[in-house]
Amino acid sequence: MARGGECASQCGCVGCNPRPVNIVIDCDPGHDDAVAILLAHQHADVFGITTVSGNASLENTTRNALSLVELIGVDTPVHSGADRPLLGEPVHAGHVHGQTGLGGVELDEPQRKVASSEASEFLLAVAQEVSDLWVVAIGPLTNVAHAINRDANFASRIAGISMMGGSAGVGNATRVAEFNVWADPEAADVVFGSGANIKMCGLNLTHQLKTDDGLIEQLKDANKPVPDLIAQLFEFMHMRMEELMGERRSALHDPCAVLALTHPGLLTFEQRAVAVELAGTHTRGMTVVDERTTRRRDPPNAEVAYQIDAEGAMSTICAALLNY
Ligand code: RIB
Ligand code: CA
Repeated sequence: MARGGECASQCGCVGCNPRPVNIVIDCDPGHDDAVAILLAHQHADVFGITTVSGNASLENTTRNALSLVELIGVDTPVHSGADRPLLGEPVHAGHVHGQTGLGGVELDEPQRKVASSEASEFLLAVAQEVSDLWVVAIGPLTNVAHAINRDANFASRIAGISMMGGSAGVGNATRVAEFNVWADPEAADVVFGSGANIKMCGLNLTHQLKTDDGLIEQLKDANKPVPDLIAQLFEFMHMRMEELMGERRSALHDPCAVLALTHPGLLTFEQRAVAVELAGTHTRGMTVVDERTTRRRDPPNAEVAYQIDAEGAMSTICAALLNY
């Protein structure tokens, strides 16, 4: 377990949770996953990292996770997990994150080895051992779905799942589907049907939190290896976003799922019923959120985030990165 240590900004953060929350991170590093991992290690007690196929192949996401924990010198165990979704073939996002999943930097081959290749088994075990444990799910939900399918009590044993995924608005993988849910809709359907406490940070929220070149300059000015490496990751993402979106800014999707637990004062949530479309020709992988105001709307199964204090969030993230 890697302790969260003191709040990076000495509790100067906006909306900081005074007591480090217990978490495991299920991820597919991934540039924004990398920022989420570094942020989490400053503000939470991280009991483990599990990796999944998503932004890149499982081999790449796992190597990236091992490199990142080695880079920041924490003893967080890394367990690799699913190399494919519950149904069908794996999809990746090399056009965004590069073939390796962390395009823009050359990381040494990690010395650290995986603690196991059974991510869902680790999730079940750590949920037994650690009280008030949150699963921060910031990649496709395959590992979490496997854990739920293996033990129906898992959902009630954990404090909840804080996920980056889905959207109460526009998609990114398709017109209406967000990548993490689109990459494994069946897994997302299992998670939303599990009865777990769910905090959903979808694209409607994460698109409010975007980096800019000023952040890159701040990180470079620190003249320290870790902020400099993150600056290189952002530089790569800004280049890709300029090609794809016409702007040198990239959304910090995954850190939002960490901030939802470590800095709850920065986000506002609403109780909503969320369903995952599995069959639609044009809508497979969409999170269908019941926004009706009538009393006849469906019973909520998640807290959906709608607003974030982007300035407070960015200064918290920047302070955490500069603290390495
Ligand atoms: O849609 C954004 C999500 O997909 C983020 O988790 C990003 O890392 C990618 O996995
Ligand atoms: Ca991710």
